[in-house]
Amino acid sequence: MTRAGAAALVGVAGAAARAVAGDDTTRTSSIFAPVSAPADAAVTAAMLVLAITAGIFVVVGGLLTYGVVRFRQPPDDDGSEPPQVYGSEQIELAWTVIPILIVVVLCLVTARTVYDVQGATKPPGAVDVTVVGHQWWWEIRYPALGIVTANELHVPVSDPANRTPTFLALESADVAHSFWVPRLAGKTDVIPNRRNTMWIEPRETGLFLGQCAEYCGTQHAHMLLRVYVHPRAEFDAWVTRQREPGVADASVAAGRHVFETTACINCHTVRGTVATGRFGPDLTHLMSRDTLVAGAAPMTPEALRDWIANPDHVKPGALMPAMQLDATELDQLVAYLGTLR
Ligand code: CUA
Repeated sequence: MTRAGAAALVGVAGAAARAVAGDDTTRTSSIFAPVSAPADAAVTAAMLVLAITAGIFVVVGGLLTYGVVRFRQPPDDDGSEPPQVYGSEQIELAWTVIPILIVVVLCLVTARTVYDVQGATKPPGAVDVTVVGHQWWWEIRYPALGIVTANELHVPVSDPANRTPTFLALESADVAHSFWVPRLAGKTDVIPNRRNTMWIEPRETGLFLGQCAEYCGTQHAHMLLRVYVHPRAEFDAWVTRQREPGVADASVAAGRHVFETTACINCHTVRGTVATGRFGPDLTHLMSRDTLVAGAAPMTPEALRDWIANPDHVKPGALMPAMQLDATELDQLVAYLGTLR
């Protein structure tokens, strides 16, 4: 099958997946609905493999069925053996050469796809992001922009005339994780003491869901990823807001005091305060995120209070300890965090 043929098949599969999804980009996370260059390449290769193996299945299954029907025992069978055949050069050549050719074709297609994806050059408009996998959340850093956030990756949509793909450097703070947003790119392992790279180039705006794809401990299932693909101007506005320091007004001074005088500051950063910890998520613009606890809870005051009061209740095994705050301190702290927009 030609590359165009494979691409046509991908188109049909993608249209079907999108028909199911409607306008809501989060309705499907199918690899058959790619919206980004590396995901396109992977699904094109996958469809070609699927087509070839489907062809093999039809030929083998067809011959088997034909043999079973055509050579079944006739009613007047006298029990004697049919003519016996020993050795056939043509048949042996066929079952040796044809599989070799098929394997060679699959190897070449795979090699070309891997080369295309991994050998991609970074255009000048590319956005650089460092993603650090932690048990059990994602640290997201934009080194050139001075932004640090968590679990929710924001990127610009890429215009073919003025490409703005996002290049990701993947690191781990503890164990092996895997970064996977099926509609944007294939999985890439996140390995301790190693820096893997990958890239995405979304051509549609929307929210695309992903997930850690390597078992990394008890809360592996709650290590979700959200990728927000924005029109360029919207992305620039997001960057501007994220670069501002966190400001809290005097009305939440009590909560800020609770925050700055408990162990919160050992693990969390709020720029502009004494909190500079790196073990947990940066909270400078906590309220700009839609979810808490790597997607395990929505960003609501109730969920936030529940999480701080008893992390194990929301995410058993979570590395955030319960701070043993009383109800008043909890309310003050949640009020303060609620101002970190
Ligand atoms: Cu991180 Cu699974």
